[in-house]
Amino acid sequence: MNSLRKIAVINQKGGVGKTTTAVNLAAGLSRQGKSVLLIDLDPQGSVGVCLHQKPEQDMYDLLIENIHPKQCITSLGKNLDIIPSNNSLIRAELFLSKRDGAEALLRQKMAVITGYDYIIADCPPSFNLLTRSALLYAEEAFIPTTADYLGMDSLKKTVHLLQRLNSSFDHDLKITKIIPTLYDVRNRICKESHIQMKNEFYELVAEPIRINARIREAPQVGKSIFSYKPSSPGAKDYFSLVRSVLQDEQFILNGKGNDGLKMVKAAA
Ligand SMILES: Nc1ncnc2c1ncn2[C@@H]1O[C@H](COP(=O)(O)OP(=O)(O)OP(=O)(O)O)[C@@H](O)[C@H]1O
Ligand SMILES: [Mg+2]
Repeated sequence: MNSLRKIAVINQKGGVGKTTTAVNLAAGLSRQGKSVLLIDLDPQGSVGVCLHQKPEQDMYDLLIENIHPKQCITSLGKNLDIIPSNNSLIRAELFLSKRDGAEALLRQKMAVITGYDYIIADCPPSFNLLTRSALLYAEEAFIPTTADYLGMDSLKKTVHLLQRLNSSFDHDLKITKIIPTLYDVRNRICKESHIQMKNEFYELVAEPIRINARIREAPQVGKSIFSYKPSSPGAKDYFSLVRSVLQDEQFILNGKGNDGLKMVKAAA
């Protein structure tokens, strides 16, 4: 049985906690003994920024320079590796946009990378070529979203875009987690939006990640929330997310993870 889960962390809206979720989920899973590769498809390069990593080789080299993908990996410890990116990825996108079938290039290149339990791709806040490449490589999409009116709007738009991508590229990406982020427990709109999300998207909706200053501080010291402040509410919330991702594992790897389709129907 294939035990690799390939997850794209996606929302077309900016600043909703995609990178924060990708980084802390990757760190949390690796701490639970899973072998994790975190890759960055966003030219903002926030994965490397959050973890204070600026290696020689990165996603640009993998996509454009024909460097062997394994050589583009930087190890951050026993179970956690990354392929970060930086501004040069903008040039990669411009270059690739002139090529037919460019969306499939990442999937082709990444085919030689095996042996992980999880590969997590952080996506930019748009539906550009790099995002589409990540989505065509991935088998699952996790959507972090703010729990408010604008958040609900972009959640629905993102779901719609994923449906269109699946039909345009004959792909079978499943949405397997919707993650309310930047959640303010005292705010009525957050509570209402969370309920609305659960009514529309059922058990795909994770427990919210509360607003927590420690989460915002962790990148300053290049750490995940788990090594920066392990007893903070932020670490507690991200640990709950990690646990729920692990709980889904057998269900999804056995091919029974049809919830994404149920959700997609609900949103159509
Ligand atoms: N739960 C949280 N509590 C407090 N701050 C948070 C939380 N989650 C994210 N942040 C902060 O919110 C900002 C946006 O988060 P992040 O960069 O992860 O979003 P993003 O969706 O990746 O943004 P972009 O679309 O630009 O890539 C960052 O400053 C981050 O530290
Ligand atoms: Mg980001």
